[in-house]
Amino acid sequence: MDLGTSAVKVSAVTQTGEIIAQEGMDFPLNQPKPGYAEQNPNDWVNATTVAIVKLILNDSVKPEQIKGISYSGQMHGLVLLDENNQVLRPAMLWNDTRSTKQREEIMAKMGDRFVEITHNQPLEGFTLPKLLWVKENQPEIFAKAKTMLLPKDYLRFRMTGKLAIDYSDATGTVMLDVDKQEWSQEILDTFGIPASLCPPLVRSIDHTGNIDAWYSMYSGLSTDTLTFGGGADNACGAVGAGIDSPSKVLSSIGTSGVILKYEPQKETNYHGVLQYEDHAIPDAYYSMGVTLAAGFSLSWFKKTFAEKEDFTDVVESAAQSTVGANGLLFAPYIVGERAPHADADIRGSFIGVDGIHQRHDFVRAVLEGIIFSFRDLLDIYEKEGAKFDTVVSIGGGAKSPLWQQIQANIFNTRVVSLQNEQGPGLGAAMLAAVGLGWFKTMQDCTKVFVKFKDVFLPEEENVAKYQKLHEIYKQIYPSTKKISHELVAYRRENEEK
Ligand code: XUL
Repeated sequence: MDLGTSAVKVSAVTQTGEIIAQEGMDFPLNQPKPGYAEQNPNDWVNATTVAIVKLILNDSVKPEQIKGISYSGQMHGLVLLDENNQVLRPAMLWNDTRSTKQREEIMAKMGDRFVEITHNQPLEGFTLPKLLWVKENQPEIFAKAKTMLLPKDYLRFRMTGKLAIDYSDATGTVMLDVDKQEWSQEILDTFGIPASLCPPLVRSIDHTGNIDAWYSMYSGLSTDTLTFGGGADNACGAVGAGIDSPSKVLSSIGTSGVILKYEPQKETNYHGVLQYEDHAIPDAYYSMGVTLAAGFSLSWFKKTFAEKEDFTDVVESAAQSTVGANGLLFAPYIVGERAPHADADIRGSFIGVDGIHQRHDFVRAVLEGIIFSFRDLLDIYEKEGAKFDTVVSIGGGAKSPLWQQIQANIFNTRVVSLQNEQGPGLGAAMLAAVGLGWFKTMQDCTKVFVKFKDVFLPEEENVAKYQKLHEIYKQIYPSTKKISHELVAYRRENEEK
């Protein structure tokens, strides 16, 4: 089960990693006020059930064939249940940003100590600031709350009747003590949160109960089907892309972009510059940096300057330019940035615009600028002594051979794409496969389920050129910060008028 933010996707996967059937169903996202993003947890259950019923009826997957189910979930969303396990209010999602005041209070009260315990900054997106928002603004609901769950854990609860949260999603609450691998009593005490609100912790491959009698009747599934903990969508996406050892990095380009690295030790701490989470692979961790406008920079450019043209043609036109786009650089900060520069008011720029430049140079600069921002994240890792042999490219970056070659040259590492890019759903299935005992370890399962397709190797001459260009690119943030902030402030003032 891949429970996303706009839809659920359910896949039936065989013992050899083949996807034999797939069904999905959308559900609404409610944004009643600016910054709010909510969903009704019952919509997740209903949509998932429709998808399961379609799988059984349309695709002839027999319920008794379904040995195990596991879950990938949109991260950080807050679901609150009362003493009868009834939902108390709409879920507040990862992209709900109303809790800036609570985030600031967390830092004012605990500061670096908070980052030391959770290995993360308390961003609005994470669960604790949302919980504190409810405590402050809806105290009657907070008083009735007996259990806190994350989205996929609520879905699993409705299918099994059992309450649990897996470690990868627990780290995303920023209430877990990462070094101790238990709920942080210090954080709970500091913010007056009863420990009983936190559900039992399970590993992603742990058995979390069978489908119960009620859900079997509701969906047609068998009570012989086992469920397993599952994990956060980024963790499951990494599992499905084969990120199962420290030498592999994930480069994912969706609307936003993610560089994600497997971390073997819980003690590693990037002090909140990067997110740090438990992996869905037992006893492993991952760190992750987000470029807010990755694919979005490209779709913005296409919409604004090449609206009527074919997307692929626009991307491929970058081949008419050169390495370094004939001396044009782009910084993709068009909606602010998260990592390594956590700055909501930085804005993007083209630097070096020259009378010789044509549109294809601008396209090339956009493709390169997004990867330079990823390079900034790899630099953080390399400074800590990390060495990579493979970058697995997924999403938009894996759709263009040109963009993959640019990645190989800017990363100075081999870049591979996947034969059957399925995202987090495949990762979730792999967790069930290991949970069922079909494979001894996640690594054994990866060998069978994850297959690489194209391979792009770094080209020495271009690697050297990109290294020089990245040195110049790195100066853009400090050089444009003040100008950007002044422009954003100017716009705010004038919009208000
Ligand atoms: C990660 C994050 C998003 C969500 C999307 O911290 O907020 O990637 O996981 O579901």
